[in-house]
Amino acid sequence: MIEPRSEPTSTERLAWVTGASKGIGRAVVIELAEQGWQIAASGRDIAELDALTAETNELSGSVHAYPFDITSEQASSEIVAAIERDLGFIDMAVLNAGTHESVDGVAFTVAPLRRLVETNLMGTAHCLAPIVERFVARGGGRIAVVASLAAYRGLPTASAYGATKAALINMCEALRVELAPAGVVLSVITPGFVRTPLTDRNLFPMPFLMEPDVAARRIVRGLAGKRFEITMPRCFAFIMKLLRILPYPLYFTVTRRLVTRSEP
Ligand SMILES: NC(=O)c1ccc[n+]([C@@H]2O[C@H](COP(=O)([O-])OP(=O)(O)OC[C@H]3O[C@@H](n4cnc5c(N)ncnc54)[C@H](OP(=O)(O)O)[C@@H]3O)[C@@H](O)[C@H]2O)c1
Repeated sequence: MIEPRSEPTSTERLAWVTGASKGIGRAVVIELAEQGWQIAASGRDIAELDALTAETNELSGSVHAYPFDITSEQASSEIVAAIERDLGFIDMAVLNAGTHESVDGVAFTVAPLRRLVETNLMGTAHCLAPIVERFVARGGGRIAVVASLAAYRGLPTASAYGATKAALINMCEALRVELAPAGVVLSVITPGFVRTPLTDRNLFPMPFLMEPDVAARRIVRGLAGKRFEITMPRCFAFIMKLLRILPYPLYFTVTRRLVTRSEP
């Protein structure tokens, strides 16, 4: 039985951040800790989570490591229970853990799509379900799901990644309205390119590349409000939104230029 929620004081606010061991999630944890939040930081890499805990030791908030793999539904539900048993009620969940694999369309196979669905879509759902259950029962809470600007339209090499992130946005659009009467505010975070271990693998020039601390500041600022979409950088988001309203013939003329493979 879940106890009715009592409003936390500012010093008691507890955030759960997944994908906190590196990249965007790590930067968000540091930003939240600077603002005095208590944070349960998750990822699989225990050494990286311990390093983050040590690094944030001097900040006004406190960071606690809760390692687990989001592809396990059971582990996800157990970790939420463990965080609340140890630290109290979670006030905000930032479901950021995710990964990327480029897919060459002419060599399309099921395996990479399945891997990305298991992590980005199902993994996020595994984390979302126990949080929604608790927040609805207590009558409030803040949730943010990290998607991507790459989800706004189908892009070459992103047939698998884009599909998982577009699915997350669609799922959150539906849930946002249903959860609002229960006092739960759900947002999506749609970053453009951010310099992280994930994008360090990219060999192509990344337009409007942002540093993780800059992205994290914008994300945390967005989390303080209630807007559905927390997006950055603005100019890249504007371009991607413009692409979204282009008719197909025009859109494919634009994206064809992104296909570097030489035609036979
Ligand atoms: N960087 C960008 O340009 C960009 C742009 C748009 C959206 N995004 C999205 O932002 C999120 C963070 O990306 P990032 O660039 O910071 O990536 P990153 O540097 O590779 O970090 C990914 C994080 O997710 C965690 N993670 C991955 N698979 C996991 C699993 N099965 N179980 C638990 N944790 C897992 C990783 O933890 P461990 O390695 O410790 O497991 C790591 O902390 C992702 O959802 C990504 O799709 C990134």
